[in-house]
Amino acid sequence: MFYLLVHLIHIFSVFIYGGFLFTDNLFLARMKDDIGDEYPKVREYFMKYVRKVVPKALIVAVVSGIYLFSQNFGTIAPEGLSNFQIVLLIKAFLGGWLGLRGVLQVFFKIQPLVFKSHTFPFILVVIIIFLSQLMFAV
Ligand code: HEM
Repeated sequence: MFYLLVHLIHIFSVFIYGGFLFTDNLFLARMKDDIGDEYPKVREYFMKYVRKVVPKALIVAVVSGIYLFSQNFGTIAPEGLSNFQIVLLIKAFLGGWLGLRGVLQVFFKIQPLVFKSHTFPFILVVIIIFLSQLMFAV
């Protein structure tokens, strides 16, 4: 029952974080052409509320992910890592990287060195979601 609860929390927090990235990249960014000079102001209104929720959802995703990881990873067989364990490790690494990047940026004001836009986290989230399903099939 506890596992189910954490699993649901993971899914919902990922929805909030991923949902923001989808909205920002697929829809909001397109408004730039229509609104012109007003766009930064409009985006700021949007971000004002995003900042209150989304970074916290990312932390919840990582913390709940760590618990799910501890329950799913299992022991490493003498022959080495299973395919599931390899894909899960990649998924957890990418998720942890996103989490660290988000926490440093939002709570410690450390700007990511290379990727300043939301395109990079968006691509990572798409890859992570893909891996989260693939890992059970390999
Ligand atoms: C922003 C980062 C993350 C995203 C977008 C994400 C996304 C997802 C998604 C979509 C699922 C599939 C849920 C399902 O099919 O029911 C999942 C499951 C899982 N995630 Fe994450 N995750 C993130 C971070 C993490 C981290 C950091 C870890 C581990 C340290 C992790 C560990 C897991 C595990 C073990 C599962 C399988 C749970 C199960 O099916 O019982 N996740 N994640």
